[in-house]
Amino acid sequence: MIKKIKDYYNWGGRFLTDPFHIKVADLNKKEADKTPLRSDIINFLLQKLNRDTTYLEIGVRNPAINYDKIISTTKYSVDPGLEFKENPVDFKLTSDEFFSQLRTNKVLSKDLKFDVIFIDGLHLADQVNRDIENALEFIKEDGFIILHDCNPPSEWHAREEHGYRISPAGNNWNGTTWKAFVKWRQNKDLFSCCVDTDWGVGIISKTHKIGSASSIKNPFFEYGVMNENRKESMNLISFEDLKSLL
Ligand SMILES: C[S@@+](CC[C@H](N)C(=O)[O-])C[C@H]1O[C@@H](n2cnc3c(N)ncnc32)[C@H](O)[C@@H]1O
Repeated sequence: MIKKIKDYYNWGGRFLTDPFHIKVADLNKKEADKTPLRSDIINFLLQKLNRDTTYLEIGVRNPAINYDKIISTTKYSVDPGLEFKENPVDFKLTSDEFFSQLRTNKVLSKDLKFDVIFIDGLHLADQVNRDIENALEFIKEDGFIILHDCNPPSEWHAREEHGYRISPAGNNWNGTTWKAFVKWRQNKDLFSCCVDTDWGVGIISKTHKIGSASSIKNPFFEYGVMNENRKESMNLISFEDLKSLL
């Protein structure tokens, strides 16, 4: 009986010689080696605001990885606790429940506006799209909405099923966050870019000119179309480019 994923990979040596697995293993390594990490970019944007700030993180898992590293006057965390048993967050809720309770004054205050909202909860396009809509309602005019996992290096990283590990992407999963990001990149009332590091750190702003709307047509949100037009679809930029824009 096959017990471990590594057994699948060793099975007849088949996956080890499969060109898709070999190519994607290389992409995995390249992406994992990139710096800076999301925490550095979030802290840079918070610090750029140059005032007392209020930070919201949606989807926290183990806070030692990112949340605890964020420097902000006030911080709030939301996570229903699906992946990390301890789940030491302020609101043990899904993002939909959190925003609904926020809107009706059941948590915090409906008048609260955040300086930075980091969206890193359920990585499926429909949910991320709703998280962006809700974040746009509760972000300050000059605040930043930041999204993790916007730039999947292969279509196997961009699979819908998180649990499937025999794909060339292995354990790595970015889900379909990219579709929601690409959708909002087409909005002419917003500015956006994606810092090309740490699996794609997307940024959306109402007022900071970090990148104008994309004109790439991809009505069916097909991975191949995005991949061929990746730079413009995402407005992929370096961290240095971002710094020069702010
Ligand atoms: C990728 S992890 C978050 C990682 C963390 N932000 C970091 O930077 O290290 C995704 C988290 O989202 C949470 N999650 C899943 N569905 C959610 C939902 N509907 N609303 C909010 N969080 C959700 C999971 O419980 C999990 O802890």
